[in-house]
Amino acid sequence: MRIIERVDQLQECLAQYNNVGFVPTMGALHNGHLELAKQARKECEIVVVSVFVNPTQFNDKRDLERYPRTLDADAKLLESVGVDFVFAPTVEQIYPDEQKYVIEDESILPLTAVMEGAHRPGHFDGVVQVVGRLFDIVNPHKAYFGLKDYQQLAIIRKMVEVQNRSVEIVPCDIVRAEDGLALSSRNSLLTLQQRAVAPLIYRELIQIREKIDAGNHDYSKLVRDAILQINKNEYLCVQYIEVVDAVSLQEPAENKTVRVCAAVMCGDVRLIDNV
Ligand code: PAJ
Repeated sequence: MRIIERVDQLQECLAQYNNVGFVPTMGALHNGHLELAKQARKECEIVVVSVFVNPTQFNDKRDLERYPRTLDADAKLLESVGVDFVFAPTVEQIYPDEQKYVIEDESILPLTAVMEGAHRPGHFDGVVQVVGRLFDIVNPHKAYFGLKDYQQLAIIRKMVEVQNRSVEIVPCDIVRAEDGLALSSRNSLLTLQQRAVAPLIYRELIQIREKIDAGNHDYSKLVRDAILQINKNEYLCVQYIEVVDAVSLQEPAENKTVRVCAAVMCGDVRLIDNV
């Protein structure tokens, strides 16, 4: 495995391959990220994982500053699952000029306006910008994204569609700790007490799912009850729980598949999850 910092070096290494699997990450890797890399390993000739804490997608400066950075440990983990190249560029390599990769296409706006987009202004502009730039650099055949960031996945799919890119987007299941908490790089910022109560988020999402599966479609009441339960805990404070159409992310019509998405503050750490 090689760790590469420069765009031109990476492109030189990849030039001879036409079945490149790509996993974009911000590092501080855990088993959720590694599952993406393992799936890419199974399906592709060459696997590239990028580790880049993208400043343009952080709407909160403190969140960016304290985002965990663990490149040495990340590289060891990636090597253990057979990754070929770790692309760990500097900010200057990714953004050599002021060019923004924001999509003008109006069809993406409904996806970016809701949930995470509503609570983190500019966040998805930054995500679309960096993923577009990384796709241009790596030119992957397949790119792997976790369902953990459900809205991000929907937006990247739309981006690929409107920009007419040839990359195949591969969704990967959410990897959870034994107690149900979705793995996240931010979990390492939780105190012991916060970590102990965080699985309540997933438990409440499952409750909602079970009730919907049993035929209860009073979504606003289901959401209200879950918020009450979660907010009873002194460390937890719900930002939103929403039941949305699984594709459009808008209010669901009858008999359409829905996704239940949540963002919850656990102390001052923001956790997201969905079922
Ligand atoms: P990051 O949060 O590091 O996540 C990288 C990828 O890992 C994303 O596709 C995310 O959905 C996936 N992932 C994270 N936790 C997961 C889990 N518990 N189970 C399954 N997949 C999981 O998402 C980003 O970085 C950035 O926005 C990025 C796309 C790299 C652009 O900067």
